[in-house]
Amino acid sequence: MNDTWDKLKNDCAACRRCTLGDTRRNLVFGVGNERAEVMLIGEGPGEQEDIQGLPFVGPAGKLLDDMLTMIDLDRTKVYIANIVKCRPPGNRDPQEQEQAACREWLSRQIALADPKIIVCLGRIAAKALIDENFRITREHGKFYDISGRRCVATYHPSALLRDISKRPEAFADLRLIRKEIRAVCDRTY
Ligand code: URA
Repeated sequence: MNDTWDKLKNDCAACRRCTLGDTRRNLVFGVGNERAEVMLIGEGPGEQEDIQGLPFVGPAGKLLDDMLTMIDLDRTKVYIANIVKCRPPGNRDPQEQEQAACREWLSRQIALADPKIIVCLGRIAAKALIDENFRITREHGKFYDISGRRCVATYHPSALLRDISKRPEAFADLRLIRKEIRAVCDRTY
C-alpha cells in the first residue's frame, strides 16, 4: 500500500469499526515526529485526551513528559500513540474486540513512522504488541525483537501516579531505554 499520514488520518477519522466512536468527543490519533526513531504507545485516551484530541495531556501525560525529560527526550523527538484511538467510557480498559478493531490504524502508524524502538506504556500495550501473556511486573525493562524493531515495556505513567513505589523500577527502565536509543538510533540525540 502506498500509505501516507494524511490518508491514514482520514481513514482513521472515518472509522466506525467499534462503538467507542459513538461516545468519544474527539479522536485521539497520535502526535509527534512522524519519522521518529522512538515510538511510545499507551492504552487509550482518558478524559483530558478525549477533550483535547491529543494523547497524554492529563496528569499521566505530565508525568510522561517528565519521564521523557529524564532521558533527554521530548514530544518533538518521539511519536506518541495509543492502542485505541477513542476513549473507553469511564476510562475502562479497552476490550479485546475494540483493540482488534483499532489495530489497523496503529499498524499503519508504526509502518509510516518506522521506529527502531517501541516503548509500550503499561500492560495493555505490552500484551497487544509484545506478547499476549506479558507480565508487566516481571518483564518490564526487557527488550524483545518484534518484526525487526526493539520493543520494551515499562509501567504506565498512571500506574506510577497511583503507586510511587514502582517509580525506581520505571526509572531503571528509562535508563535502559536511553542506552538502547544510543546504541541503535542515529537521529534521536
Ligand atoms: N493513558 C493512555 O494510555 N493514553 C493516553 O493518551 C492518556 C492516558
